[in-house]
Amino acid sequence: MKIGIIGTGNMASSLIKGFQSQKKNKIYCFDLDSKKLSFFKKAGGVKIATNNKEVVEKSEIIFLCVKPNSVSIVLEEIKKTLTPKKLLVSIAAGVKISYIEKYIGRKFKIIRSMPNLPCLVSKGVFGFKANSRANIKDIESFLLLVSTVGKAFEIKKEKDFDYITAISGSGPAFLAEYIAAQLVYAGSKGLSSSLAKQLVFETIIGAVEYLKVTGISPSAFVDLVSSPGGTTVEGVNVLKNKKFTNIIIKCFDSASKKSKEIADKLVLEKN
Ligand SMILES: NC(=O)c1ccc[n+]([C@@H]2O[C@H](COP(=O)([O-])OP(=O)(O)OC[C@H]3O[C@@H](n4cnc5c(N)ncnc54)[C@H](OP(=O)(O)O)[C@@H]3O)[C@@H](O)[C@H]2O)c1
Repeated sequence: MKIGIIGTGNMASSLIKGFQSQKKNKIYCFDLDSKKLSFFKKAGGVKIATNNKEVVEKSEIIFLCVKPNSVSIVLEEIKKTLTPKKLLVSIAAGVKISYIEKYIGRKFKIIRSMPNLPCLVSKGVFGFKANSRANIKDIESFLLLVSTVGKAFEIKKEKDFDYITAISGSGPAFLAEYIAAQLVYAGSKGLSSSLAKQLVFETIIGAVEYLKVTGISPSAFVDLVSSPGGTTVEGVNVLKNKKFTNIIIKCFDSASKKSKEIADKLVLEKN
């Protein structure tokens, strides 16, 4: 497949790495930052275009990987080069399909998607939604590509992107906050950082795998490992008393509200 990448920052780098693992893919990219382009030039395996239009000209599927506030500039630049056969995939947070259509028109194939940073280690999670012009084949091409960096889930209602942005987009950072707290605790008790990391990482991987494989609910899992009068109950009671669930819900709610705010602001700027 001929793939175009516009903006080669953090997210795009992880996508490029995955796409390169499918030998038949040809990748064309452009970035305003020449340092990023020289990095890819040195690393090899991608073709560096001289501008965004050339990326679009040479590609069948184009990934728009710039920050949300740069999307309109890029769309203005490429709209005359884009053709109805090409598929445009945006990964920009808060940028609605209708926003993109306002710039380039409704006759183009668009997929809005929301990846997350674990794409870098092929464990990414994508939410995605296609517009009415994109057909099954387009979606299959998209899914084939993103299967190299993670798993993709179709989102039926576009407004759900705000929740997906919070859950899988920002979620890894919230989990990292939890992990950081565990490491602070382990460090304060004199455990070596290397041992603490291994204990914490493997515990999380093991617990998640157990939940996935058995299909048991998280609350049943808590009951399973909580003997009356034991250590787990003691800790779980602290979480309950401190309203852990409410804190987590507030955290995700703030993130999803921010996502909606960004989307609304972009629409206002366009009108
Ligand atoms: N990072 C994440 O975890 C994550 C998760 C989900 C979705 N996303 C979305 O992914 C997109 C990219 O995020 P990121 O973290 O990868 O950003 P990033 O590292 O800043 O990369 C964006 C790149 O695009 C370049 N750029 C800006 N305007 C351009 C233009 N007109 N033409 C070509 N290149 C241009 C930027 O160059 P300059 O630096 O010179 O401006 C920068 O190198 C964002 O829309 C974000 O919402 C990110």
